[in-house]
Amino acid sequence: MSPTPPDNPEAGDEGYIRSAGRGVLLALYAALRSLKLYPLENATVQKALDDLQQASKEIVEVEGELEIRLAGDFIFVNATRLRLELDNFTAMSNVMNLFRSFRVGVLRVHPRVERREWQALLSLFLTITDDGMDERQSILHERLRKAGVTGLEVDQADGQDAEDELRHARERSKRTYSQGVAVTKEVINSIRIGRTSNLKRVKRAVQMIVDQVLKSETSLIGLTTLRDYDEYTFTHSVNVCIFSIALGRKIGLTKLQLYDLGLTALLHDVGKARVPIDVLNKLEQLEESEWQLIQQHPWRGALTLFTLRGYDEIPYRSILVAHEHHMKTDLSGYPRHIRPRALGIYSRVVAVADGFDAATTRRAYQTTPIEPDQVLREMWENPRRGYDPVVVKALINLIGIYPVGTCVILDTFEVGVVASVNPDPAYLNRPLVHLALDSDGSVIPSAAKTVNLAEQGSDGSFLRSIVKVSTPERYGIRVGDYFL
Ligand SMILES: [Fe+2]
Ligand SMILES: [Fe+2]
Repeated sequence: MSPTPPDNPEAGDEGYIRSAGRGVLLALYAALRSLKLYPLENATVQKALDDLQQASKEIVEVEGELEIRLAGDFIFVNATRLRLELDNFTAMSNVMNLFRSFRVGVLRVHPRVERREWQALLSLFLTITDDGMDERQSILHERLRKAGVTGLEVDQADGQDAEDELRHARERSKRTYSQGVAVTKEVINSIRIGRTSNLKRVKRAVQMIVDQVLKSETSLIGLTTLRDYDEYTFTHSVNVCIFSIALGRKIGLTKLQLYDLGLTALLHDVGKARVPIDVLNKLEQLEESEWQLIQQHPWRGALTLFTLRGYDEIPYRSILVAHEHHMKTDLSGYPRHIRPRALGIYSRVVAVADGFDAATTRRAYQTTPIEPDQVLREMWENPRRGYDPVVVKALINLIGIYPVGTCVILDTFEVGVVASVNPDPAYLNRPLVHLALDSDGSVIPSAAKTVNLAEQGSDGSFLRSIVKVSTPERYGIRVGDYFL
């Protein structure tokens, strides 16, 4: 255990609130415990309630307010975080658990608080035992109102709304993602059996993806980690579409351009519908002739796009991207060019999105995916890969040094899964991480605890840092569980 640094002598107010806050927490716990053990009339109970009323009144008088707030694993009293120490550990953790079991995030004590109101609140805390935290909280609200308690106010955690919003965003993302996979599948399969396909539904799916990336890019990007082997061509197309749109946004394309880019990205591999499935999915090393078939997919895709209906005009951009997406900036790659040309910006964006997704996915002819951080480094550092450096830079900015879904080992011996890039661009190498295993190796339920690696202790050192990247399988972690 690291030693607790001494109180900052200048932080006088903070010192007061820290000890007074601790006092009120201890009084709250003592009152709860005695009320649990003895009848109300008992002298111990009465004394405990007196103490609680007194301690809370005093803070309200000195500070003008008293607010006890739960945030993550911490208790704050008027915005000052209480330290968990040996002598207050039981009290703090009991109060924390009690608040949590009612989904209470904050308790506000108003100057008009009366002793009987404390008594009412604590009795309700002890007697409402309905299932469901939400039910318990609404019953608590109702009874407090009936009892005329106005000096004490309990409320959901501030983060609660944000949490609900996050959950909804995730659900929306999942729907959009699977919609994208479904329409891609439909297009490719109908081309395979020789039917032309109407693009209206594809366009709608792309619009949904654009709208969601513009609203919140992280939740859709999280889904790109759920790479499904059986559906590789389809999920890959959707992933490339999501990455391309997010990259296009970073380099400043307009919304209309993003729709266009998204459609070209979703259809970039449409030529694979013209490659026999057994070649596409072959597990062993490809024969030279088979490799040639695969290399035909860009121009075959370009030809196919001429025959698709649903475009208002000939989809030149999509045709170009299908044709160019395996060409490198020096024009090596395939198909071989005949005349000198400059790759279009859409092709350069899709090439980066395509290269990143392909390299990080477990594919038929690539049994171990390379770790995302290595992929990024290679794309950035090796000019022979032939990616546009401006677009690669945008990709690094988009997903951070450690992309979403990367399994990371921390210096606290915890193991986690990268949840999103740090909202503060100064901390590209310090993402938000869902903890998966605690320092003893015990499993933490998925997404139950998310930490910000930029978080610093009171001495200014980081609480957690990444030591290395690992494969999730090694720790029995299913990355997908963290994004569903
Ligand atoms: Fe391709
Ligand atoms: Fe591709």
